[in-house]
Amino acid sequence: MEDVTDQAFRLLCKEFGASMVYSEFVSADALIRNVNRSLEKIRVDDRERPVAIQIYGRDVESMVEAAKIVESEAHPDILDINFGCPVKKVAGKGAGAGMLRTPQLMLDITSEVVKAVKIPVTVKTRLGWDVPSLYDIPTEWHRASEDKTPFILELAERLQDCGIEALTIHGRTRSQMYQGEADWTLIGEVKNNPRIHIPIIGNGDICTAEQAADAFERYGVDAVMIGRATFGQPWLFKDVRTYLDTGKHDDTMTLDWKMEVLKRQVQKSVEYSLREDNALKERKRTELGGIMHVRRHLANSPLFKGIPDFRQTRVKILRAETQEELFALLDEAKERILSFTENQ
Ligand SMILES: Cc1cc2nc3c(=O)[nH]c(=O)nc-3n(C[C@H](O)[C@H](O)[C@H](O)COP(=O)(O)O)c2cc1C
Repeated sequence: MEDVTDQAFRLLCKEFGASMVYSEFVSADALIRNVNRSLEKIRVDDRERPVAIQIYGRDVESMVEAAKIVESEAHPDILDINFGCPVKKVAGKGAGAGMLRTPQLMLDITSEVVKAVKIPVTVKTRLGWDVPSLYDIPTEWHRASEDKTPFILELAERLQDCGIEALTIHGRTRSQMYQGEADWTLIGEVKNNPRIHIPIIGNGDICTAEQAADAFERYGVDAVMIGRATFGQPWLFKDVRTYLDTGKHDDTMTLDWKMEVLKRQVQKSVEYSLREDNALKERKRTELGGIMHVRRHLANSPLFKGIPDFRQTRVKILRAETQEELFALLDEAKERILSFTENQ
């Protein structure tokens, strides 16, 4: 996730049991222009493997070139193509979920990228552009025998034919952005289509271990992808993993432990911001860079939900500029949680 899943965060998610992690999406054009920030995003650490680098773009040439750069510079395990981002600056220009309006171009990009690299290529997309078009199939895709095939079913088969090795589906349309509930029924239909043999990864609104288990059971998906629910709680994967393995929640995670995890996240984020890298010499490295990245995670942590009058502390977290300040605020937050729970 953009501005969220940097390497420091990915390593924590991995440590807590995520089977696989993905980079923030990286613009193909920016990568080709050698923009430092983009190069930084594609850096991987062996400890996060298997790791996917995700790219987005709007034409075959730049996507192929960017895919080759990712393969040769970053050596990820997987190259993921983003055809799902709904934001205007991306989808409005035809990239990300914008590709749902030009499905043939989506397929052309996918097949050329698959041919251009040796590593496995995967795709992430949404159900369609908008609800009215969920059953609109491009005329050239029509099959004589079927009249009401959902667009995503047909698209999934065609993406599979391009040679991708897995498909992630976020159960919303582009028009929904992040509103409403994710519709998993169409994800399930894709998974249960006998013509589909690649792994289908379901995505959208998984916030708890029970919801993850339910998604596996009801829709038969091969994996679930968890996004927003990880903000401020990378340990979610530990609970999901324990629950999937044992049917019970992980009760070893105390408040003290969680607070230490958040502090470790701060430290790692600063460490990554300050580290040396010859390829990125020009970039100014500061503690503040790492702090700016991590403070939104902390401010959104579910640990602080429901704590009365927490707003001021949250604002202070969002404004903190040093590790020391953030640590002090986390200590303060912990005291607030403890006194709140004692009074319950
Ligand atoms: C701040 C933010 C940034 C995101 N950036 C990306 C991205 O770079 N690549 C991507 O595939 N999805 C991105 N997403 C979408 C999520 O990966 C996910 O598909 C979506 O939030 C639904 O899943 P969830 O309910 O588990 O969050 C982003 C979402 C948010 C909120």
